[in-house]
Amino acid sequence: MSVSTTKESSYQTDALIAADIDAYLVQHQHKSLLRFITCGSVDDGKSTLIGRLLYDSKMIFEDQLAALEADSKRAGTQGQNIDFALLVDGLAAEREQGITIDVAYRFFATEKRKFIVADTPGHEQYTRNMVTGASTADLAVILIDARKGVLTQTRRHSYLAHLIGIKNIVLAVNKMDLIGYDQAKYDAIVADYTKFAQSIGIKEFTPMPISGFMGDNITTKSENTPWYDGVPLIAHLEAVELDVTADQAKPFRMPVQWVNRPNLDFRGFSGLIASGAVRPGDAVRVLPSGKTSTITRIVTIGGDLDQAVAGQSVTLCFADEVDCSRGDVISIADAPPEVADQFEAVIVWMADEALIPGRPYWLKLGTQTVTATVQAPKYQVNVNTMEHMAAKTLELNAIGVTNLATDRPIPFEPYEANRTLGGFILIDKITNATVAAGMLHFALRRSQNVHWQALDISRETHASLKNQKPAVLWFTGLSGAGKSTIANLVEKKLVRMNRHTFLLDGDNVRHGLNKDLGFTEADRIENIRRVGEVAKLMTDAGLIVITAFISPFRAERQMVREMMAGGEFIEIHIDTPLAEAEARDVKGLYKKARSGALKNFTGIDSPYEPPQTPEIRIDTTKLTPEQAVDIIIERLIP
Ligand code: ADX
Repeated sequence: MSVSTTKESSYQTDALIAADIDAYLVQHQHKSLLRFITCGSVDDGKSTLIGRLLYDSKMIFEDQLAALEADSKRAGTQGQNIDFALLVDGLAAEREQGITIDVAYRFFATEKRKFIVADTPGHEQYTRNMVTGASTADLAVILIDARKGVLTQTRRHSYLAHLIGIKNIVLAVNKMDLIGYDQAKYDAIVADYTKFAQSIGIKEFTPMPISGFMGDNITTKSENTPWYDGVPLIAHLEAVELDVTADQAKPFRMPVQWVNRPNLDFRGFSGLIASGAVRPGDAVRVLPSGKTSTITRIVTIGGDLDQAVAGQSVTLCFADEVDCSRGDVISIADAPPEVADQFEAVIVWMADEALIPGRPYWLKLGTQTVTATVQAPKYQVNVNTMEHMAAKTLELNAIGVTNLATDRPIPFEPYEANRTLGGFILIDKITNATVAAGMLHFALRRSQNVHWQALDISRETHASLKNQKPAVLWFTGLSGAGKSTIANLVEKKLVRMNRHTFLLDGDNVRHGLNKDLGFTEADRIENIRRVGEVAKLMTDAGLIVITAFISPFRAERQMVREMMAGGEFIEIHIDTPLAEAEARDVKGLYKKARSGALKNFTGIDSPYEPPQTPEIRIDTTKLTPEQAVDIIIERLIP
């Protein structure tokens, strides 16, 4: 994911720091790690604060410091104070337009702890960046300019931090020096924020009066705020409970990353423990299958362990030959996570192209990747006012609550209980781009209550009674390309050959089953989804199904293909150039579309994505309908 940034958000990771990270991490290996995020715009003093933290923890190298002092003088900074913002924002000369940086991570350490701070841009158009930076954070520092108080962006950042599951929130009321360290003003800001925080479900937060520029309440308690009875920022960062510590108290869960089977004598399941602890002898359960076994060994590079806890990467061995593969979750036997295939979730949309309800996306949760479809949002959240708004889709940076369905049951936990097993991303199947991040709320009850009916007459029985192999001949192409004409001839010929067929045609189906659908992108997708489901049932009945729909989108044709048994889906592209179809204009629709009287017409103002590798391509400028029929029948019944 990347966005091109403007000057204001072109934060740069110092190459020097990056080069030394390895050596540095080794030096601080024994210390616990706190990840946090700072929210606020440049004006709130975010860069100054981060610069101050790095400086006070001596994480600036000598030559950088010299450069910084020179820059500060040039920038006209008063007194002996260094302008720390210059350090973080990078040198002005390097701040060119169009630099592509998402989230800058910085490292520093104190005597007690080491820290990774994600510095994320504050503007609304960077919501996705903030969500990315926040997704692994234990703590958020929400910066407020003491002169301005709680602003729209304070609310937005707090909402996002809370949404992403950050339990520790620091309200850093910054620039206290500029309001004369006025306690009454500080108290008023805290009271104001308290009201807001409660309204969005933030249960606790830690307010503190600071000045990043002057260094008040950063490393030591400031004499300028004698009325403040809390600790300085660094002391707080050193003391808060880490998520991983909290996770260790939860029931044991480990998503399986891979199955380690170097030879026939060893079989282990490797992964990162998401929560809880495990010991040899523990009874465990593998989800979604529900099979149980007992842990015999906990293997690591450093030797076997007597116990492993959340945050550790290990390989577990079982007492029995239980089936377990990548994507499965190993859990303590008596408190397993739920397994479901329909959920309510909140989704942050991160792609330029809006969400298409009904379209299949890859859903990646833990180590499992499945196909998922998202329904139209129940509502969208206005991130500035927290209001719920009606929405048909989600655009870039929009946040909404939706229902979604996966193509198979998956083990999960509500995001609130477990970020690893409740957080997911959606990936576009064609471009492979990450299009959304999401958090599962709960499983819909209907997913537990609708069961497959076991049928005594199988699809094989149906097919053998008809003496044929079921198939779907899926015609796709522009309106007027000749789909219906050729499909019709194919069906007639098959019937003459004593085959049992059924023809589903766009114009006809749209009078009945799909008469509630129009020609928007979303409606076309739903049209194809329903036709796919019907075609699937008909193949179960043993029929050769012939469909003639424009079916303009690759993703949905792929979806239908995946619904069918292997080899049963035959995609036939009736390839007629737009100019040719328009010249024929059998129904007069192209003329209407060109005049503007008909909107969203395929090929004119709605796209058609031709198949890249159809089973059959018919070029209607070279073949007669009869020749086309012969090619298709030959392919179906060689
Ligand atoms: S699809 O895009 O959803 O697959 P479908 O094949 O069902 O379309 O219906 C296409 C038929 O509907 C066309 O052959 C044409 O007769 C008619 N039609 C009416 N409006 C449109 C439109 N805006 N775009 C395409 N076809 C339209």
